[in-house]
Amino acid sequence: MTAKILDGKALAEEIRLEVATGVAEIQQKHGVTPGLAAVLVGDDPASAIYVRNKRRACDEVGMVSETFELPADATNEQVLDCVHKLNTDPRFHGILVQLPLPDQVDERLIIDALDPAKDVDGLHPYNVGKLVQGRPDFVPGTPAGIQQLLLRNGHDPAGANVVVCGRSEIVGKPMALLLMQRAEGANATVTVCHTRTKNLADITQQADILVAAIGRPNAITADMVKEGVIVIDVGINRVEDASRKRGYRLVGDVDFDAVSEKASAITPVPGGVGPMTIAMLLVNTLTATRLSIHGKES
Ligand code: GUN
Repeated sequence: MTAKILDGKALAEEIRLEVATGVAEIQQKHGVTPGLAAVLVGDDPASAIYVRNKRRACDEVGMVSETFELPADATNEQVLDCVHKLNTDPRFHGILVQLPLPDQVDERLIIDALDPAKDVDGLHPYNVGKLVQGRPDFVPGTPAGIQQLLLRNGHDPAGANVVVCGRSEIVGKPMALLLMQRAEGANATVTVCHTRTKNLADITQQADILVAAIGRPNAITADMVKEGVIVIDVGINRVEDASRKRGYRLVGDVDFDAVSEKASAITPVPGGVGPMTIAMLLVNTLTATRLSIHGKES
């Protein structure tokens, strides 16, 4: 079997068009332009690129966006001060704190300080709690994007064995919570694997849908998956490549060439999950704007 490619770039474009329509509508009806504030602490080049891409996407759909930059040696107080100001700034309906933060900054403290109504990354404990209960306002962008990639390609996870490799707050945990819900686009049987999992391959071989969010190139090899599996590769790893101008290329967590011979569908890296994460951030920012106007989604 040769896998169908799940094209996240094309689907993200489609979703951005839908968001742009929503933005125009809210401007016309209410005179409000949805706004996203991005907080970027330090000078990690990858984070700077992510934030730039997120802002570019905002511009494209007609949203307002601004980046608030803090130095690499910023203190908790400085970051908190920035977040507190943005919480009460009416220009911004969503706030994104780009992660990871430098070591001296307490990530939990900062996330907890966000106004949950502006937490478009869905990381505040209030929003995590709502996701646990199956009534989320904001699902983190990566898992929300993966759900859309599955559904809009005709792969309803209902009844499927989904194996999630990785238990991060931003991908693994919310992915598992989202797909286990009694809800449309969910109803899966979910298993979560992590660094202490015994016999990982025995478990991944049971997967109808495998989500790899491990952070290591080629962590998922062909012998670890069954014929016909749907593979979602969340990894974005830089590997040295002297033939490239930049000196590196981006690869996922999955041995793409070998696994795509066995899988029925697979996401590429880049161009799979990455663009979907950004598209769903825009969806969440539009939702935050609507909620700020109506008090509920409408
Ligand atoms: N770092 C890597 N991915 C993400 C994301 O989706 N949101 C934020 N805030 N930081 C990230």
